[in-house]
Amino acid sequence: MQPVSRRGVLVLGGAGAASVALGAVGLSQRWLVPDTEVSGTDSGLSPVEGGEVVEPEVLRSQDGVLELQLDAAMTTHRLAGREATTLTFNGAVPGPTLRVRPGDTIRLRLANGLDEPTNLHVHGLHVSPEGNSDNVFLMVAPGDSFDYEYVLPGDHPPGTYWYHPHHHGTVADQLFGGLYGAIVVEGPSPVEASRERLLVVGDIALGSDGRVVQASMMDRMAGREGDLLLVNGQVEPRLAARPGEREHWRVVNACTSRFLSLRMAGDHDAQVLGRDIGVLGTPHDLGEGLLLAPGNRAELLVTVAPGEGALMTDPVDRGGMGMMQGSRPGGGGTMGLVVLEGSGESVEQPDSPPSRPGPRDLRGSPVDGSRTLTFAMGGPGGGRGPGGGPGMAFTIDGREFDADRTDQQVGLGTVEEWTVRNDSPMDHPFHLHVWPMQVVRDADGEVRDPLWLDVVNVPARSEVTVRIAFEDIPGRTVYHCHILDHEDLGMMGVIEAQP
Ligand code: C2O
Ligand code: CU
Repeated sequence: MQPVSRRGVLVLGGAGAASVALGAVGLSQRWLVPDTEVSGTDSGLSPVEGGEVVEPEVLRSQDGVLELQLDAAMTTHRLAGREATTLTFNGAVPGPTLRVRPGDTIRLRLANGLDEPTNLHVHGLHVSPEGNSDNVFLMVAPGDSFDYEYVLPGDHPPGTYWYHPHHHGTVADQLFGGLYGAIVVEGPSPVEASRERLLVVGDIALGSDGRVVQASMMDRMAGREGDLLLVNGQVEPRLAARPGEREHWRVVNACTSRFLSLRMAGDHDAQVLGRDIGVLGTPHDLGEGLLLAPGNRAELLVTVAPGEGALMTDPVDRGGMGMMQGSRPGGGGTMGLVVLEGSGESVEQPDSPPSRPGPRDLRGSPVDGSRTLTFAMGGPGGGRGPGGGPGMAFTIDGREFDADRTDQQVGLGTVEEWTVRNDSPMDHPFHLHVWPMQVVRDADGEVRDPLWLDVVNVPARSEVTVRIAFEDIPGRTVYHCHILDHEDLGMMGVIEAQP
C-alpha cells in the first residue's frame, strides 16, 4: 500500500502578509505528503492533527418533531487542537447534527449572539422558502432570536444536507468563521454497514491571536480558502476499524470556496452511494477524484483493508482572473482529510448493499419551458466589498442581486430545462434553493445515469444543462454561486414559483 502522511505539516509563514502579496492563494496551506520532516513551524501555529475523529453532537427528532435552539456566538474554544476564537453554533464547529425523517417537523430557535445580523438556510431541504420556514430574506438582528419551523414532506429524499447562515453580504464571513452544521434525513432502512460516520469538511484561517483572518478584496474575488482544512473541526483525524468492515460515510463540503476532489489512498475500497440528493441506483467506484464543489455532499461505502489509508483531496484548478498574475485559487497540494487504519481481527464482509431503486429521470418528461442563465464577472461592481469600496461585478444575466427584484417566474407543477452558462475565467458552482436539479448535460457532454444535485459546478467558459421539477412547494427564494464570496458580491438571483 502507498505510504500516507501521518504528519501533514502546515507551513504558515506569515500568512497575513502573504495573502496581501499573493491574493487568494496567500491563504493556501502546503501539506508535505507523504511523511516529511517538520520545518517552518516557528510561527507556533501548527495544528494538532491525528486525534481520534469526534463527531458533532447529534440531535434527533422524536415522535416526528425535532425541537432545538441554535446559539450563534463568538466563542473561544479548542479548534484543531489549539485555542481559537471563532463563530460557533452552540459553542462548537461544526454545530450539532440534526437527524430527522421524512415527514418530520423541525422547530428551531435561532438566537443571534453575534454583533451583526444573521439568519439560517437549510441547504438542500425540500421545504417551503416562505414565512418562518427556509426564508433567506429574513434577518435576525443582533441579540434577537427567531423561531423557524421546517416541515419535511413525507416523501422527502433521504440524504445528507446542511445548514448555514444566509444573510446577504456576510454569508462567506459567517460560514468561514465557523457557522455550519449537518442535517441527516434518514432513509426507510439504514445502509448495511458496520457503522455510519459523518465527516463535515470546512476550512478556516486563524491568525497568531487565534482569531479568524479577515479576507481581502482579492481573497473575496477569488473565493477565500482557509489554510486549515478541518474535518469535524479537527485536522486529519484518525479512524480505526477492523479489516473487512464496511462503513457508511457522509461527507459534506462546508468550505466557503474550496473545491474538494476526493480519492482514497491505500488499499481501502470506496464506492459512491449517493450525491447531494437521495441515493444512486447503482453505486460506483470513488476512483481518482470525485469533485465536491462548495455545498456538495457525497455518501460513500468504505470497505476497510488491513493497514493505513486515507481519504485525500487533490487540488482543483477552478480558474482565476488575469489580475491574479498567474496565481490561481485551488492550490495547496494534496491534503489528507481522514486517516483510516484497518487493524485487528478481520471480519466477514456483510453482503453488498442491495441495489436500490434509482432516482427518477426527468428526461422522459415533457419540458414546459427552457431558459438560459449567464454567469459573468467584470466591470465595476456595486461596492459591496469591505468598506464599501468598488470591486469587480459578479453578475447573473448582467445584474447583481436585488432582493426586491424577481428574476425568474416559474409555474408551479412545471418541468423546466435550464442552461447555466459561465462566460468567466473561473468556475461557479450553481445552487438553487428548494427544488433539486437533475444534471442532463455537463461540460463533458450528456450525463448518462440520473444525477440529482443542489449545487452543480459550471466550469469556466462552459455550460451545464439541468432539468428542474417545480412541484409541491410554491414560493420565492434564490439561486446563486456557492462560492459564497461571489454570492455576497452579487452573484445571486431571485426565483418565484407560483401556481
Ligand atoms: Cu448553501 Cu443559498 O446556500
Ligand atoms: Cu462564483
